[in-house]
Amino acid sequence: MTARLAQRRGAEFTRIHGLGDYRPRRVVTNAEICELIDSSDEWIKDRSGIATRLQAEPQESVVDMAAEAARQAIEAAGISATDVGLVLLATVTHPWQTPAAAPMVAHAIGATNASAFDLSAACAGFCYGLAVADDAVRAGSAEYVLVIGVEKFSDFRDPQDRSTAFIFGDGAGAAVVGPSQTPGISPSVLGADGSGAMQIFQSRPWTEVRRDWEEMARSGAVPTELPAWPYIAMEGPSVFRWAVYSMAPVAKQAIAAAGLQVSDLDVFVPHQANMRIIDALAKQLRLPPEVVVARDVVDVANTSAASVPLAFTRLVREGQAKSGDLALLMGFGAGLAWAAQVVVVP
Ligand code: UT7
Repeated sequence: MTARLAQRRGAEFTRIHGLGDYRPRRVVTNAEICELIDSSDEWIKDRSGIATRLQAEPQESVVDMAAEAARQAIEAAGISATDVGLVLLATVTHPWQTPAAAPMVAHAIGATNASAFDLSAACAGFCYGLAVADDAVRAGSAEYVLVIGVEKFSDFRDPQDRSTAFIFGDGAGAAVVGPSQTPGISPSVLGADGSGAMQIFQSRPWTEVRRDWEEMARSGAVPTELPAWPYIAMEGPSVFRWAVYSMAPVAKQAIAAAGLQVSDLDVFVPHQANMRIIDALAKQLRLPPEVVVARDVVDVANTSAASVPLAFTRLVREGQAKSGDLALLMGFGAGLAWAAQVVVVP
């Protein structure tokens, strides 16, 4: 007879124990962005709500920013780095295809007992990470999971593309997920639609850049221009329409999966892509006016995987989200991919 495999079981419930963020010091105004594109401060604010974005120093890496946010989250959680069993890092701007950033972050912060891997789900990345962390703690794969969302778009943003130059910013946010006496993270609602893959995308694959270099080398001619760099590109208006029309039902599914009504919510932290999208979602959900809505996009612009944890950490730091409050988190973007869950504010 074949021997029966042993199985692990983890905690019955999970919650976020601590949050942290890293906001680069350099503030880039719309006026500075408009030095390279035909636009204006007024147009950018009117169409996106963005007033400034933050930019990392050239030598500051995705790993550096993530480690800083992670240290804060670990301290806020009151655990030590060696208690972390898994580091899950969501990003689309780590410039090495391999190795992943998560093991480097684990090493940098002294999380010597942690497994570590990266997760690519763009603006939905942090909320996907929370879902995986919740499952991992309940399944017993790790007692504490560090979930990080981090981006350095200053390396991949085309400063001369007026449809994206003003949108993206740099930063990092992190959360420690661990066991709880009572439910602190609701069942996550996750989804993907690859038919929209080319709505937000790297403008060309690395294999094309290599082909261009090889052709250039073969021709022997002195190049007059370099192969085009793969920047982040976006079909803005179609993504905008998709976000406004398709994400309110996802938010409603997440509220229902949590066994709640909209009126039970205290805080709403949607992906910070565009103030008009945030306002449209709040309106479609008929959020009561007392619900605190994250509006970090004004100051930091769209930081993709970092946007939800950056905005959430700020609300907690400023006392607008209070311990025990119920917060709906929702990320959506490239993939297309989306994820949402309700969490208890730590
Ligand atoms: O993070 C992942 C999820 N991402 C998002 O959710 C982003 C979704 N998209 C958006 O937020 C918006 O589409 C943008 C903020 C990117 C753009 O706003 P929009 O209202 O959709 O503008 P548009 O692209 O429809 O352009 C409107 C007009 C056009 O001129 P015409 O054709 O009406 O004469 C554009 O050429 O504005 C023009 N335009 C600009 N004008 C000044 C486009 N970009 C600019 C610019 N400055 N930077």
